[in-house]
Amino acid sequence: MMQTESAQAALPYDRVYNFSAGPVMLPTEVLEEARDELLNFRGTGMSVMEMSHRGKDYEAIHNETVDNLRKLMNVPDDWAVLFLQGGASLQNALVPMNLKQEGKIPNYIDTGYWGNKSIGDAKKLGPVHIAWTSEPTNFDSVPDDDEPQFTDSPAYVYYTSNETIGGVDYLRDAKFNTDALVVCDASSNILSRPMDLSRYDVIFAGAQKNQGIAGVATVIVSPRALEIAAKQDLPLMFSWTKAHKENSIHNTCPCWAIYMCGLYYKWLLKNGGVDWIYPINERKAKRVYDVIDASEGFYKPHMKEKNRSRMNISFQLPNEELTDKFLAEAKPLKMSTLKGHRSVGGVRASMYNAFPESGSELLASFMVDFAKRNG
Ligand SMILES: Cc1ncc(COP(=O)(O)O)c(C=O)c1O
Repeated sequence: MMQTESAQAALPYDRVYNFSAGPVMLPTEVLEEARDELLNFRGTGMSVMEMSHRGKDYEAIHNETVDNLRKLMNVPDDWAVLFLQGGASLQNALVPMNLKQEGKIPNYIDTGYWGNKSIGDAKKLGPVHIAWTSEPTNFDSVPDDDEPQFTDSPAYVYYTSNETIGGVDYLRDAKFNTDALVVCDASSNILSRPMDLSRYDVIFAGAQKNQGIAGVATVIVSPRALEIAAKQDLPLMFSWTKAHKENSIHNTCPCWAIYMCGLYYKWLLKNGGVDWIYPINERKAKRVYDVIDASEGFYKPHMKEKNRSRMNISFQLPNEELTDKFLAEAKPLKMSTLKGHRSVGGVRASMYNAFPESGSELLASFMVDFAKRNG
């Protein structure tokens, strides 16, 4: 299989195509740069891991990283760009804490595992209204803009732009029928496509999928959301306002994780930013969905066609035996971590920004061949 050979040859250092949902493959150049700067960062005589978070060498890395995320996402100057610890998961609690408003109820859209988790945490902090759920159809879709039923004057409207486990994606900047603040967990599709910030008030994401490594989450906050956050009296590490005032250096920040995001952003910017990666991501996903669609039911996706995630392609084979065989045969071809999430089973191919296009070619050709032999 020629394609298989060339795809395998495309990977340096005997690396594999890692289809993990997170943490995930980083661009080889980013890893090389981190390696080259590891022991002595640009003549400082120390690594970024050993630097004071308040020294001028780290400050320069930090400011450049924040500025580059602003550039990549066209974030206006009066919005906050925060780099916080606790992963995306901590934001499940910080969103209701920072956006609390007397007499107003947060409204959540429930599209699967991660939506559920955020609802669970929000409920521990106060009443929550579920404005829409795909639970009756086993979380196979997201709503159209006019479908959610909101309360009068919600504290905010919350949604997950891409459900990493179910593989359902809005594939758009939702424009719901509300003037309320809009909060979006974009952990698994941030920077994978252009986003119109005027449709959002808070966008947050763990860094370890589309922008760097675990240890830091990015939180982008609009002026009107910042105004509400400023009214809360919260402990230091829970407060967006305190983080904003100190440019996310309100305590010892995760310097290495932020530095890795910085290298990642520079890689994206150098190549042309989000407008460059977006069509590549579309191509990678389409290649695999085309095989699924042409397989006459051998590969069965779980999600509705109009909500198919570009980042996480989740599908079933006819039975568990064939699934195990598929995974076992993929491994020696350098395709790893294709096993579906334990709650869904089957196969899940996650292909984020840094996942090489050659890997999607390899997977697609392997899937065609496997179906032919086993269908
Ligand atoms: C959509 C989504 N939200 C939240 C999380 C939780 O992220 P973290 O592990 O950074 O807390 C994940 C992790 O995979 C995710 O995919």
